[in-house]
Amino acid sequence: MPAKFIVGTQFGDEGKGKTTDFFAEKADLVVRYQGGNNAGHTVVVGDRTYKFHLLPSGLLQGKKCCIGAGVAIDPRVLVDEIKQIESEAKINLAIDPRAHIIMPWHNALDAARESAKGKKKIGTTGRGIGPCYEDRAARNGIRFVELVNGEKLKERIAELFPLKKKILEEIYGAKVDFTEEGIFKQYSELGKQLLPLLSDVSIEVSNALKAGKEVLFEGAQGTFLDNDFGTYPFVTSSHPIAGGAFTGIGIGLLKEFEVIGIVKAYTTRVGSGIFPTELEGKLADRIRETGKEFGTTTGRPRRVGWLDLVLLRTAVRLNGLTGIALTKPDVLNGIEELKVCTAYECNGKEMKEFPADWHAVENCKPVYKTFKGFNIAPETKDFDELPQEAKDYIGFMEEELGVPAKIISTGPKRSQTILR
Ligand code: GDP
Ligand code: IMO
Ligand code: MG
Repeated sequence: MPAKFIVGTQFGDEGKGKTTDFFAEKADLVVRYQGGNNAGHTVVVGDRTYKFHLLPSGLLQGKKCCIGAGVAIDPRVLVDEIKQIESEAKINLAIDPRAHIIMPWHNALDAARESAKGKKKIGTTGRGIGPCYEDRAARNGIRFVELVNGEKLKERIAELFPLKKKILEEIYGAKVDFTEEGIFKQYSELGKQLLPLLSDVSIEVSNALKAGKEVLFEGAQGTFLDNDFGTYPFVTSSHPIAGGAFTGIGIGLLKEFEVIGIVKAYTTRVGSGIFPTELEGKLADRIRETGKEFGTTTGRPRRVGWLDLVLLRTAVRLNGLTGIALTKPDVLNGIEELKVCTAYECNGKEMKEFPADWHAVENCKPVYKTFKGFNIAPETKDFDELPQEAKDYIGFMEEELGVPAKIISTGPKRSQTILR
């Protein structure tokens, strides 16, 4: 299939990095379309672990990679990430001129807003993502095409800096420890380094698709962190759902494509927000430790809970999933009884899809189906070799969602992947 979309179906960290790297072997182009360095995508090759924040996860397969217009780029992070990887992998990267740039005031505003919200904080990654996308919508943003043009950059910083400084100091009482000159010096240097990567990604991707090449679209975050369709306001500021790829790159609707939803065999969430199947206590600790559920970007412990089919049914609809990649079932190894949430019980009624207003399910109870536990060997190569109990768990999910699990991941490494 010429176009394959990789999307997170839960609250992020489902294993998009691993899956993208796996599919990238057969792809020609790997493209990020939204989010920024709030993302942390892990790829494990042999004994090495790589964490990508802005670079697409197809890089280690030696594939051409693109960062589309919808991505919020922190050039400090991008240049660092390139430096870290360039001795090991060939970097063939294109960056769209329209992509917006995260400026130091975005990080400062992110921190100031979170602290002003107190108990109601979102628990953002602190990477300036929200303020950067806000400025894009408010038409106060700086784009990549301006970052790489010294004169223009100087003009834009001069226009925006005094305003941002005033907001930070006078509204939030924050200390501003950066200067207009300092920012220009640092950012114009970064712009010079990144200039050779400027290329119209909308054209690159459209041409690749026209030529029948395989394009892999790598989503960041997850369906329920989507700015419109997630658990607002506890969401990110971009569109991680598959539709976000069209506006995030600048391509038309496609005739043929696959949408692979990455489903973690249980649920995790970092930051605040509703989590109906959340677990606490010893079992939660066990899953968190075994699954190494600590944020790739911020190191924060992730909240953990049972698999939630209400969320997933909704994710099937919102993304038009054609297939599922199930990750981390091995983390559940040895747990005697597993639970899967099939619906929420609200005032005597069963709710099967996640509502637009999450307050409506705040006081509902998850309805669980119980499964016998399993033990998956990490090097299992064939679906038929999986224990019957694991097949039952996976089969039930497929039946309830009406979408086949095309990949079962049995460990973090490339080799630990069953393709059906
Ligand atoms: P992403 O943000 O969706 O790319 O996911 P992250 O990289 O933030 O988190 C997923 C974590 O799970 C990473 O540490 C991966 O190396 C790891 N991982 C991915 N698939 C599997 C799997 O099937 N089993 C286990 N045990 N770990 C996995
Ligand atoms: P990947 O791509 C998990 C969460 C934050 C917070 C909310 C808003 O690795 O799956 P933001 O910094 O975007 O304004 O934070 O979204 N969040 C993620 N959670 N994985 C991610 O990315 C995330 N990116 C943002 O924890 O709750
Ligand atoms: Mg992650």
